[in-house]
Order: sequence, then structure tokens, then C-alpha cells
Amino acid sequence: MSKNDDVIQAAIEALPQAYAPYSRFQVGAAILDEQGQIHKGVNVENAAYPQGSCAEAGAIAAMIMAKGQKIKTIAVAGRGDVLCTPCGGCRQRIREFATSETEILVCDETGLRKSYHIDDLLPDSFGPDNLS
Ligand code: THU
Repeated sequence: MSKNDDVIQAAIEALPQAYAPYSRFQVGAAILDEQGQIHKGVNVENAAYPQGSCAEAGAIAAMIMAKGQKIKTIAVAGRGDVLCTPCGGCRQRIREFATSETEILVCDETGLRKSYHIDDLLPDSFGPDNLS
């Protein structure tokens, strides 16, 4: 199994743990960091709808807690025919910890559907370098 297979599998394993009683759209995410560690997250919705959080945000929080610094690969898994591409806010969240080589793997519950780099999803982005 390659590292990409591991991170895809981790996102698919996370998917059914999501708390999504309002949208009924569960999302799982998993990050492979620069140290080779994997961090998982799920979307967590809230009765006060705007307070819900995305799966990618959960996985990033777990990475930071474990002292990971860069996203080598992030897999995002959602069910259905339409690709579960990261939302706009999550593209920016990923950008913060991405490099031009970071792989963003969009998956469904059976495996990889499509892969991207951050420049595909967020061209000419604003990032930490803009502040230095
Ligand atoms: N969602 C994510 O977790 N990640 C995304 O990038 C897109 C959307 C969640 C938020 C909400 O709980 C549900 O999917 C429906 O929008």
C-alpha cells in the first residue's frame, strides 16, 4: 500500500463518523503531514447552522495538535456522483499549510476520483508569504 492509499483509506474510514444530521452529507478528511503522520477529521454540524465545521478543518486542527507543519497530501471523501471538492473556505485553510506539490485527493466512499494541486483549486492565492 502506498502512502496515498493510506491517506485515502483514512478519509474513507473517517467518513461515517461525521456528525451531519442537518445536511445528511457526511465528509471525511485525512492529512498526510511532512513527518509521515496521518490526521483525520469529519464535518461536525450544529443546530445553529453556521456554527458547523468542515472535515478539512477538523483534520487540520488534528495535524496542528500533533505538531505537523505541512500538508503533503489531503484526501477528502464524500458520497455521491458529484465530486466532493473542498469548499472555498477549506481551499484557503489547506493553502495555509500547502506547498505547490501538495496533493488534494477527492474521493468517494470507494476510492480516489480526482486529484488536484492547490493552484488548480485556488489560483493566485493569498498565503503566509503575502505577509512577509
Ligand atoms: N463540507 C465539508 O466538510 N467539507 C467541504 O469542503 C464541503 C462541505 C460539509 C459541510 C456541511 O456539514 C456539509 O458538508 C454540507 O455542506
